[in-house]
Amino acid sequence: MRRTLAFTCEDDFTHCTQDEDHGSRRAGPGVGAIGKPYRGRQRRMMPYNEDSLSASFESMSVETQFSDSSNEANIYAPYAMSYGQPPQNLSSSTDEEYERFRLAGKVALITGGASGIGACTAKLFVKHGAKVIVADVQDQLGRSLCQEIGPAETVFHVHCDVTCDSDVQNAVDTAISKYGKLDIMFSNAGVHGEMESRIILSDNTNFKRVFDVNVYGAFLAAKHAARVMIPAKTGCIIFTSSVASVVSEEISHAYVASKHAVVGLANNLCVELGQYGIRVNCISPFGVATPMLQKGLGIMEKRKVEELVSSAANLKGAVLEAEDIAEAALYLGSDDSKYVSGINLVVDGGYSITNPSAGMVFKSHLSSTHPSQN
Ligand SMILES: NC(=O)c1ccc[n+]([C@@H]2O[C@H](COP(=O)([O-])OP(=O)(O)OC[C@H]3O[C@@H](n4cnc5c(N)ncnc54)[C@H](O)[C@@H]3O)[C@@H](O)[C@H]2O)c1
Repeated sequence: MRRTLAFTCEDDFTHCTQDEDHGSRRAGPGVGAIGKPYRGRQRRMMPYNEDSLSASFESMSVETQFSDSSNEANIYAPYAMSYGQPPQNLSSSTDEEYERFRLAGKVALITGGASGIGACTAKLFVKHGAKVIVADVQDQLGRSLCQEIGPAETVFHVHCDVTCDSDVQNAVDTAISKYGKLDIMFSNAGVHGEMESRIILSDNTNFKRVFDVNVYGAFLAAKHAARVMIPAKTGCIIFTSSVASVVSEEISHAYVASKHAVVGLANNLCVELGQYGIRVNCISPFGVATPMLQKGLGIMEKRKVEELVSSAANLKGAVLEAEDIAEAALYLGSDDSKYVSGINLVVDGGYSITNPSAGMVFKSHLSSTHPSQN
């Protein structure tokens, strides 16, 4: 049954409605994403019900509700009534349903969601029952992607340049006005910038631009997400960093440094926001044949890029695809990872823990001194 809950408060965009089917639907024993049995994986919250929630708010005047003299209360006041989805009838949901709809009832915003990893994640999130806002500078691509994925009530595009504070604010506020809350911020937008890896030849403007999108953009995404998640005392922020955050290669200093900075930002946010029930994590992919990497390498044929990446990979027999990163985001965005915060989930098939140079030198030495052993 769908029933509309209407919340009102002074701020315009919190005059929103919420549908009951936004609640978490997980209950009971079953098999988790990593194949282990679990029991009752739904997020455990302080028990409350719809009636007591509205009664306690109604018994206070708006002034009283937000009249706390602390700065914190004033900062979050406009958002304080825009969350609070009561848990749904968990007992009516089955484990099978949960496995199919691991994000049922959740609202996600994906920056850089029009292409590559972001687009793939948008598709997977919608498939798993989330409402998704695709925030990107590529408006046409974003719109057509959303039309392809699902109806406008479920997924839609918002123009958002992550380097522009008001754009990011608008994207988050749109999530609140349309769905009443934001559960998942996937800060994924990024640029590679120039491919030049030599410091002396590196372009200064490029360095600033890469930091602007990859680091300042991530900072703004986190800031506006926290603004609405803190009063809700729940939420999940995921950043796309890169394998370049854990291993150094001949790629541009701007890109490598920016991806290290993203992990640092995530770690610090994890510490700050844990007290509000907000989890913060990173995903660090190895090479994925997306438009970014294809353009960077100057190879527009996806299969050729995959072959190139695979030839450098540690793990053979599998090709890393955007879908694999989307699966990582699904795990970190769902209640399957309800106690996971502060990790940098490196999806690289073990690439970053290998260092073949000594092995190659020894092998070459042995082949010249003991040819029979090779
Ligand atoms: N593809 C890889 O091999 C790889 C590896 C490691 C990390 N990553 C990271 O994954 C993320 C996604 O990249 P991708 O590979 O899917 O590339 P992509 O180019 O397909 O997607 C990036 C998206 O970000 C958007 N974007 C760029 N600047 C923006 C801005 N200022 N505001 C809003 N959106 C903006 C683009 O329009 C695009 O839709 C990036 O952060 C990237 O650094 C990619």
